[in-house]
Amino acid sequence: MTRYSRITGTGSYLPPRRVSNADLAAELATKGVETSDAWIVERTGIHARHFCAPGVNCSDLALEASRMALAAAGRTPSDIDLIIVATSTPDMVFPATACILQHKLGIAGCPAFDLQAVCSGFVYALSVADAMIRSGGARRALIVGSEVFSRILDFNDRTTCVLFGDGAGAVVLEASDQPGVLATELHADGSHVGILCVPGSVSGGQVLGDPLLKMDGQAVFKLAVGVLDKAARAVLAKAGKTEADIDWLIPHQANVRIMQSTARKLKVSMDKVVVTVGEHGNTSAASIPLALDAAVRSGRVERGDTLLLEGVGGGFTWGAVLLNL
Ligand code: UT7
Repeated sequence: MTRYSRITGTGSYLPPRRVSNADLAAELATKGVETSDAWIVERTGIHARHFCAPGVNCSDLALEASRMALAAAGRTPSDIDLIIVATSTPDMVFPATACILQHKLGIAGCPAFDLQAVCSGFVYALSVADAMIRSGGARRALIVGSEVFSRILDFNDRTTCVLFGDGAGAVVLEASDQPGVLATELHADGSHVGILCVPGSVSGGQVLGDPLLKMDGQAVFKLAVGVLDKAARAVLAKAGKTEADIDWLIPHQANVRIMQSTARKLKVSMDKVVVTVGEHGNTSAASIPLALDAAVRSGRVERGDTLLLEGVGGGFTWGAVLLNL
């Protein structure tokens, strides 16, 4: 019997502090940095984002989202035999946030590791977990995207600090005789490292270089639209499906204009695109599982629906996962 992997529960968590564009613009104005609600909404579709309180870390958000996903799947932490946390804003340089999460969940023994593919992190993690489950290496995986991007934003740079937020999303992915994940497609091109990066590093007890996010927004925008279209077509072809089979497109939530371009190229109506960037901002690896959970809990996305998830981000990395929920 062929072994597949299937999502059995979703969860998500946003820290309580909601920062509207107007709140952020007022805060930035005190530093002499000029922006406006009108500019942010028109260029990105973002109205607000959530920021963590000081002392709240990636693993804390991951824990809340994981508990919700486990409850939705009808599982307890001890049922889990693999933990992957996709993040670029881990609690520590090491050990992995996945190990910290494992301990906070009160379990030990199963493999737990972080996956670093920035905003593509969740589709990368889902693909890795799917492969491990299909090959018999795991039966019930907890896959989390969790980020505290507020910690790496340069609040003197209006071209980036208005775009990102904090949050976490999680899924339980289980072995199943019914598909589940239909096909996955992952890519990277390291020649674009410089267009989206946090160039600093830790050495000799000091931070070397700039530890804040740098982005060439227009270069990222152009690359993103092209590679997302290619990844979407490739993953559909692998699964023997077409655009018409997609019930819901759940893209990485970076900018509503990128999502509109991707949907237009794929000839998918915006009515079938889950858009949460307006209230979440760009939460990097957390954005897709946050959007998925919001769509599941609102009843829009239902069991049996065919979902196309697609991510793109620093690296440059990109990928897509086609699945039946
Ligand atoms: O997760 C993946 C990572 N990120 C992305 O996917 C981001 C991809 N890129 C984008 O979303 C867009 O390129 C941005 C939203 C970052 C920028 O939008 P844009 O339409 O490409 O604007 P732009 O960079 O061409 O800037 C237009 C103008 C500039 O002023 P001038 O030179 O025309 O006078 C900027 O200085 O807007 C100005 N500007 C701002 N004004 C008010 C840039 N940021 C702001 C701001 N508030 N926050």
